[in-house]
Amino acid sequence: MCGIVGYIGEQQATPVILEGLKKLEYRGYDSAGIATLSSGESAIRRSEGKLVNLENLLREHPLSGVIGIGHTRWATHGRPSEINAHPHKAGPVIVVHNGIIENYLQLKEQLKQTGHIFKSETDTEVIAHLIEEKLKTENGFDIAVRQALAELHGAYAVCILNEKEPGTLIAAKLGSPMVVGLGTGEYFVASDIPAILAHTREMVFMEDGEMAVFSNGEVSFSTIAGEKLNKAARHIDWSPLMAEKGGYRHFMLKEIHEQPRAVRDTIAGRLLESDGDVYLEDLPFSDRQLAAVKRIVIIACGTSWHAALVGKFYIEGYCRIPVEVDIASEFRYRNPVINESTLAIVISQSGETADTLAALREAKSRGAMNMAICNVVDSSIARESSGVIYTHAGPEIGVASTKAFVTQLTALYLFTIRLGRATCSIDSPSGQRMIAALKKVPALLEETLKLNDHVEKLAKKYMNARDFLYLGRGKNFPIALEGALKLKEISYIHAEGYPAGEMKHGPIALIDEEVPVVVLVPKNSAFDKTLSNMEEVIARGGRVIALCSEGDQEVGNRAESIIEIPHLNEDLDPLLLSVPLQLLAYHISVLKGTDVDQPRNLAKSVTVE
Ligand code: AGP
Repeated sequence: MCGIVGYIGEQQATPVILEGLKKLEYRGYDSAGIATLSSGESAIRRSEGKLVNLENLLREHPLSGVIGIGHTRWATHGRPSEINAHPHKAGPVIVVHNGIIENYLQLKEQLKQTGHIFKSETDTEVIAHLIEEKLKTENGFDIAVRQALAELHGAYAVCILNEKEPGTLIAAKLGSPMVVGLGTGEYFVASDIPAILAHTREMVFMEDGEMAVFSNGEVSFSTIAGEKLNKAARHIDWSPLMAEKGGYRHFMLKEIHEQPRAVRDTIAGRLLESDGDVYLEDLPFSDRQLAAVKRIVIIACGTSWHAALVGKFYIEGYCRIPVEVDIASEFRYRNPVINESTLAIVISQSGETADTLAALREAKSRGAMNMAICNVVDSSIARESSGVIYTHAGPEIGVASTKAFVTQLTALYLFTIRLGRATCSIDSPSGQRMIAALKKVPALLEETLKLNDHVEKLAKKYMNARDFLYLGRGKNFPIALEGALKLKEISYIHAEGYPAGEMKHGPIALIDEEVPVVVLVPKNSAFDKTLSNMEEVIARGGRVIALCSEGDQEVGNRAESIIEIPHLNEDLDPLLLSVPLQLLAYHISVLKGTDVDQPRNLAKSVTVE
């Protein structure tokens, strides 16, 4: 997830782009850059780190020109550094890109063979070289761009300049957002509305497979294949703050709604469907090394720890390797049994959590193989691990983790397939089945998000409770823990998660008509048992909110309230169940008037022990 801004008009481009990038910094902030064209020559400034570094650089080395493109980066391929920062240039072509080009390695190889020399580790640079290559045989800039884009697999929003056509800017999109702002004699392009809201409120939203060519004071829209389009502008009356949150009231709600995209990006380019296997680009372990693993320890904190608990079910269930799950702050103080045949997996959204980093170092010092599941590229944990699976959730701003959690589950599922294939515990047809199921998740998450209004009504009904209980069995027990954590951290209501079968060993004493009990009871192998546990709660006057599979009348007739989720399978239902629990916590918090995105006493990244 990166931010793009483009400008063409009569003003100096750099200040317009820089101001726009500041509004997009929430989309990425590990490096940034701007390119402008002036008298047929390009100039580029790039710098590592936050935008303020680029701003300082531009103060020392200003850029002039009335046409330009800029980028703020959230690294996916290649560590954050000046060399990997956008724009990327090949010959006369300059590109900024948001998205992931899945076939970039293959294209890079082909281009190298025709003499192209690459300077960065990014997938984006391939786009610039490919257009340069097409320009050799095509006179038209736009035709060369169309031909190059047709060869890309994956997702992109791109802005492109060509020194040889200094009055033209091209933008195109497939799978990543892009909006065009219409000014008077000038045009703006951006990944998101806030970047250009100060200049215009008349916007054209580009759809997948569309391209815009800005030249001679005009814009023409077409499909990438070349078919002309008439696109209507929309008037945007959002306030600037609303715009930054994509029109959502809070970052948390925006991030909840980003989950289909986040899972799609985490899967993108990694599925080897015909082999029933996956390709994890930053995991350097051979099949032999993976087959030598005798024991796995997964270590994490908070929400990431809940993901780890689900991972135990995946790995033990499919790969038959014992998995222990540890809270990072406990791990290093209990003299853990770790040796060379242990694989330590640390999970962290931020990659900077002090306890998790210390646990990784502890595991390494004891000779364990190690790897991370991490969202922030080149964070301390990612750098210090021998291998990493990046979750491509994009920056998570809300303190309450949502999209990071669901993508951590996705990464654990992908790793399970890889490990199972390496250890021969998953054969090719089983791998294919697992992949086929995983591919359904983004669309089903979209379906699940439609529950928002229903969950908001339930929030009104239950918001005044003093305590909540969350019950689940098997893989859904960690989801119950996660649901309870979400509620307590943002609404400050006391909530506990329990394995449903454990209730009668003590916690059932808490049940009365004041306590809402959220029961996770989708159709699965534990359904009957969970239903009985639900009955035990109802028999004691508890107010049950049941999360069940769509159309389940058995549950529907018994529970006080129900939330029906689309049914996928026992492995992946936890991802779908997470969404209404996040929404329930969110709406209760909004109704109670707490600070949803920055709840009291909490920090997004806990960098102290
Ligand atoms: C969850 O909503 C919290 N923000 C918190 O539990 C978080 O998951 C925990 O601090 C771990 O952070 P990490 O994933 O960045 O390491």
